[in-house]
Amino acid sequence: MNLKLSKVLVTGGAGFIGSHLVDRLMVDEKNVTVFDNLSNGSLKNLERWLGNERFRFIKGDLKNPNDVEKAVEGIELVLHLAANPEVRVGETNPSIHFQENLMATFNLLEAMRRCASAKTFVFASTSTVYGEAEVIPTPEDYGPSIPISTYGASKLGCEAIASSYAHTFGLHTLILRVANVVGSRATHGVIIDFIKKLEINPRRLEILGDGTQKKSFLHIEDCINAILHVTYQFLEEGKKVDVYNVGSVDQIEVKRIAEIVAEEMGLRDVEFIFAGGVEGGRGWLGDVKIMHLSVEKLLKTGWKPRYSSEESVRLAVQTLLKENETV
Ligand SMILES: NC(=O)c1ccc[n+]([C@@H]2O[C@H](COP(=O)([O-])OP(=O)(O)OC[C@H]3O[C@@H](n4cnc5c(N)ncnc54)[C@H](O)[C@@H]3O)[C@@H](O)[C@H]2O)c1
Repeated sequence: MNLKLSKVLVTGGAGFIGSHLVDRLMVDEKNVTVFDNLSNGSLKNLERWLGNERFRFIKGDLKNPNDVEKAVEGIELVLHLAANPEVRVGETNPSIHFQENLMATFNLLEAMRRCASAKTFVFASTSTVYGEAEVIPTPEDYGPSIPISTYGASKLGCEAIASSYAHTFGLHTLILRVANVVGSRATHGVIIDFIKKLEINPRRLEILGDGTQKKSFLHIEDCINAILHVTYQFLEEGKKVDVYNVGSVDQIEVKRIAEIVAEEMGLRDVEFIFAGGVEGGRGWLGDVKIMHLSVEKLLKTGWKPRYSSEESVRLAVQTLLKENETV
């Protein structure tokens, strides 16, 4: 494929990670189509590209096969980010992850199967597919994968379908298992949760679980660089299927995140209350307590993260607080 001319579809392109990806693809002079139902994304994230002749926005739902079929027409590369990314909704309504993630991905792959041009599929998967891995940092070939959330299960299912479509229908599938991503435009996750709670009560912060949950956090800038770096390499290599972990090189504890949020909000002596958690000190059912992806394979490609987990979190808190002021 001629990378200069590639026509790219970004599902979920109005969301947090998707809109940053669109920014970079537009700067890289691609023709970009965003397909999003705006259930969690916003056109505000794409404002600067509306009206650009290389940019097209389609409001549509991946659960509707007709919408999807039209969206992939003439497309060469599909970056699939649309999903319900909230682990916690699985506890009360498991069908959301199966509809929004599994069925939606199946509809997209079916549309690609019927389309003559759209043959490369890049899938935003997640660290949660590994479940509670016994090997930390966890490499891509760790197994068996035993997810503990319906979110992780649905994403692992998507990976499996996408791999089967590569082998059965000649697609090329790149699976990216992404750690926690933080930064500008984020609408969910632990940082947002802490900021919102401290805005309501600046003296007391309820932390779900025992605060020793330890995970790797990746800054959005490092995340976008990694996604595009491996995608462009994958396009050149022409492999059928490949899998990469996308994360930072270290981890940070949830309690430390709380301290950083309080510091950046200029709050002192905040009382941390550890509450609402479930067995083993996890924050909620399906919460993987210790997550650290091995990024050895990614580093070997020449990608280097700019920020550690702690730096990523601090920078994200600063940015999100500024964004909050301007809303
Ligand atoms: N944010 C993270 O830390 C993280 C970590 C690992 C993996 N991921 C994955 O990366 C992707 C993007 O995550 P995000 O944090 O940017 O989430 P997000 O909610 O900000 O973006 C998802 C976008 O998809 C859209 N969407 C949802 N369902 C849709 C449907 N049925 N049809 C069309 N559009 C739909 C939403 O409106 C939203 O704009 C997701 O697949 C998520 O599972 C995210």
